[in-house]
Amino acid sequence: MTVAHLKQAAAEKAVEAVHSGMVVGLGTGSTAVFMVRAIGQLLQDGRLQHILGIPTSEATAREAERVGIPLTTLNEHPVIDVTIDGADEISPQLDLIKGLGGALLREKIVATASRRMIVVGDGSKKVARLGTRAPLPVEVIPFAQGPVQAYLASLGARPVLRVHNGVTFITDEGNIILDCHFDEGIDDPELIGQAIRQQPGVVEHGLFLGLAETAVVATNDTIEVLGKRLS
Ligand code: A5P
Repeated sequence: MTVAHLKQAAAEKAVEAVHSGMVVGLGTGSTAVFMVRAIGQLLQDGRLQHILGIPTSEATAREAERVGIPLTTLNEHPVIDVTIDGADEISPQLDLIKGLGGALLREKIVATASRRMIVVGDGSKKVARLGTRAPLPVEVIPFAQGPVQAYLASLGARPVLRVHNGVTFITDEGNIILDCHFDEGIDDPELIGQAIRQQPGVVEHGLFLGLAETAVVATNDTIEVLGKRLS
């Protein structure tokens, strides 16, 4: 199976937790897109009804509209029943690094507003220690880049400005991202997360600690459901 097949298998399995009448947080990325399409298909077949989606990015909003998922906002529905989203790293405790797709700010707002968050991924996303496979993305107000970069370096990170197609990557909220590399991984995610947030100009970081209650991880052999059962 290709990695795309594994992502699709995990995303489609997680959709079992979506029931008619729910407000659903729609994640972002190449795994979450399969979840959006699966929900669209179930709505089209009539197997799901009265779903309202809250997208975590402009890209996801476009895909949800394309497949016929009615959208709402956090202002209209401040509490989300379930959010399904991908991740860049999944720890044994289901702590996550997210944001390589650039949508970490809206993703964290949506995950925090959710009664339940389910993370989906292929087996390569599982890590023993966060920060060993992916850098930690930190979303920063452009004006503050210099001091924040110096501050992140003082915490032991190697921050690199994210560039896409030769130009500075700008998030949906108009900010930049500093991808923080940690040579030995992240020792104490709680501590580093708190320290990063203390610096003015930092908007959010990609550590999602204690937010995911279930992980659905697909490998060539199996689809593992970790943490709380899907339904
Ligand atoms: C988007 O900002 C990210 O948090 C994604 O959820 C994460 O990068 C996983 O993306 P893929 O499913 O494309 O690997």
